[in-house]
Amino acid sequence: MPTITEIEDLKRLYKRRVPKMFYDYCESGSWTEQTFRENSSDFDKLYLRQRVAVDLADRSTSGTMMGRDVTMPVALAPVGMTGMQHWDGEIKAARAAEKFGVPYTLSTMSICSIEDVAAHTSEPFWLQVYTLTDTDYMQRLFDRAKEAKCSAAVVTVDLQLLGQRHKDLKNGLSAPPKLTPKTLADLATRWSWGIGMLSTKRRQFGNIVGHVDGVDDPSSLMSWTAQKFDLSLNWDRIREFRRMWDGPLIVKGIMDPRDAREAVNAGADAIVVSNHGGRQLDGALSTIRALEPIIDAVGDKVEVHLDSGIRSGQDVLKALAMGAKATYIGRAYIYGLGAMGQQGVTRALEVIQKELDVSMALCGKRRVEEIDRDMLMVPEGFTGPWDEGRRNR
Ligand SMILES: Cc1cc2nc3c(=O)[nH]c(=O)nc-3n(C[C@H](O)[C@H](O)[C@H](O)COP(=O)(O)O)c2cc1C
Repeated sequence: MPTITEIEDLKRLYKRRVPKMFYDYCESGSWTEQTFRENSSDFDKLYLRQRVAVDLADRSTSGTMMGRDVTMPVALAPVGMTGMQHWDGEIKAARAAEKFGVPYTLSTMSICSIEDVAAHTSEPFWLQVYTLTDTDYMQRLFDRAKEAKCSAAVVTVDLQLLGQRHKDLKNGLSAPPKLTPKTLADLATRWSWGIGMLSTKRRQFGNIVGHVDGVDDPSSLMSWTAQKFDLSLNWDRIREFRRMWDGPLIVKGIMDPRDAREAVNAGADAIVVSNHGGRQLDGALSTIRALEPIIDAVGDKVEVHLDSGIRSGQDVLKALAMGAKATYIGRAYIYGLGAMGQQGVTRALEVIQKELDVSMALCGKRRVEEIDRDMLMVPEGFTGPWDEGRRNR
């Protein structure tokens, strides 16, 4: 086994082992990728305050998320088509999360279905749903999630339409991949991926194909999804979802304090400050910069979580120190999955936990509850003010 000491090691292996089409699908942001880049580079602008001569003998990274105990406050974010990064990818990622003791969030746009993941895990996982116009389908999704004992629903509100990622268009991204001379040449050099994919039946969108009349091949699926994303979404529709799902509700994709307040008024139990990993509005602020005013607006009412750009335990620590209750990783675990399957997801979590533990300790903190803003040096203007408009919020 190669020596893996950081997430970047997993990314290098991932790039070698997974077809370019799926690597590009993961490792891209929308348009110029400014937000995608800054989500990570803005963490580097925050400095940690070193403290010494603190008794560090008894330490823990454990905490809680949505009332459940977690080994560290880092959940696995919903990632569409995870089962194309590695055969049976959602099952493997969910199992790694379960063994490690952190929540796994299954995307609606997954390859393995809700029932399939439930059958191969024993701890409840979370289900992410998009805001689709088809109320019957949405109700069935929530009912299936309940039947599968999912312990929270994550409603993603930042994807009424799709931010453009140039590479996906150029690569002709699809699941399963269309066999053209270009894809065949690429697949020929990724033989272990290909053999793995041939060994499983799970190669289509498992929550949609077979659950919607008339959707049984990639082209009918593409047109179904394009039609069903809700361009006229509003907060009343989120209230409807609140009524359709009686478990904990997490609203994902909040970047503005006004939207945070709306989400809370609509019945959210938690929100995720997220710009979809820089895949939607290019030019949006990084989440670590957007976080603080949102916590000021609703942090006393609901749990405020953060994702986008996290690649290390130091990033997690900075997000917690800025006030997030918990975090999610997306690409960081997908690199691990593509590199080494379930073992790679576990390795990604181990790397991040170790970095979090040691960095906390070097800041003189033994417990997640002790993490506070005082341990950070934040450059002036990092979180604003930006302009006149902000003062009115
Ligand atoms: C390849 C890929 C697919 C994604 N698919 C979904 C999805 O189906 N639903 C969703 O809510 N978010 C999706 N996201 C966004 C993630 O949930 C999360 O917000 C993002 O990955 C966090 O940024 P990070 O990858 O820099 O950690 C996806 C992200 C990636 C990279």
